[in-house]
Amino acid sequence: MNRALRIHAYGGAHAVSIDQIDTPHAASGEVLVRVHAAGVNGLDWKIRDGILQDVFRLPLPATLGIELAGEVVATGAGVTGFAVGDRVMGALGGIGAYADHVALAADKLTGIPAGLSDTVAAATPVAALTAWQALFEAGELKRGQTVLIHGAAGGVGSFAVQFARRAGARVIATARGIHAGYLRELGADEVIDYRTESFWDVAKHVDLVLDLVGGEALAKSWQIVAADGKVVSTAAPEIATQTPAGKRGVWFQMRADAGQLATIALDVARGDLKAEVSEIVAPTEAAEAIERNKTGHGRGKTVVQFR
Ligand SMILES: NC(=O)c1ccc[n+]([C@@H]2O[C@H](COP(=O)([O-])OP(=O)(O)OC[C@H]3O[C@@H](n4cnc5c(N)ncnc54)[C@H](OP(=O)(O)O)[C@@H]3O)[C@@H](O)[C@H]2O)c1
Repeated sequence: MNRALRIHAYGGAHAVSIDQIDTPHAASGEVLVRVHAAGVNGLDWKIRDGILQDVFRLPLPATLGIELAGEVVATGAGVTGFAVGDRVMGALGGIGAYADHVALAADKLTGIPAGLSDTVAAATPVAALTAWQALFEAGELKRGQTVLIHGAAGGVGSFAVQFARRAGARVIATARGIHAGYLRELGADEVIDYRTESFWDVAKHVDLVLDLVGGEALAKSWQIVAADGKVVSTAAPEIATQTPAGKRGVWFQMRADAGQLATIALDVARGDLKAEVSEIVAPTEAAEAIERNKTGHGRGKTVVQFR
């Protein structure tokens, strides 16, 4: 059996179907993974809706999903470091994770440390790598600086709060008020309920804004950023066109990095980092879960369990 969650044409929730497709083979340099779980991400519905057609050209039908955890069932020629039976996790750096079997380049994969469940492993790659790279590579966040994180309770934000706090930054988080206790536990110094407070009245001279929301959150952020600070967005690809003169606004796109992921996965397995899985759904429920992600409210990550 090789189920795949595919789109045959761009559209809403009904555009996603569960198809039976041939099981792929591991080509040279590839590993064939029996998928146990795959994380839900905003990119799923952005691709499904067709809003990324100009930058992300796809031959259709296409299998959605950008991160997975599972078990190696075959290795292609030249693959070293992985063997049949190994538990692995990774961000694909492309699409195709929502299937029972996925063949992908071995260098995208990291072994799952002992003690880490498949669902947590599937929820970690994209959110954690995005948070890490956006804060420290694009954002150049340093000890003693202040970072404001919009959308802090979500998948990326939950990791970003923890990474920033561990790096010695002062962390201001925006989220719905119901997430305030959760975010303080993760390390936020201050939580602003965006429904009842205007963050631009509260926060000033922020060194880095990590925008995981876009829209008004981004538009108002220019007011609070320090003269030599910057705004990094993972949600608004058009940020460059909105950046006022004299300000620095950067669009950031995650890079699949198995080395970084290995370090992060160990921290999660040891309990030094928390990876929040708020919901586990069956493949038959995945289309609705992807649609729910579009509303952008809630805590942590949703994971589709294949096995
Ligand atoms: N460029 C890249 O490489 C990349 C990689 C990963 C993700 N992304 C994008 O980055 C964004 C965040 O991803 P994610 O996986 O963390 O999404 P997510 O899990 O859906 O989290 C979004 C969070 O934003 C909160 N929120 C909604 N409106 C808000 C507002 N006005 N102010 C503050 N918080 C608000 C939501 O919860 P509450 O409203 O309940 O607080 C939710 O916790 C998405 O657009 C995603 O597609 C881009």
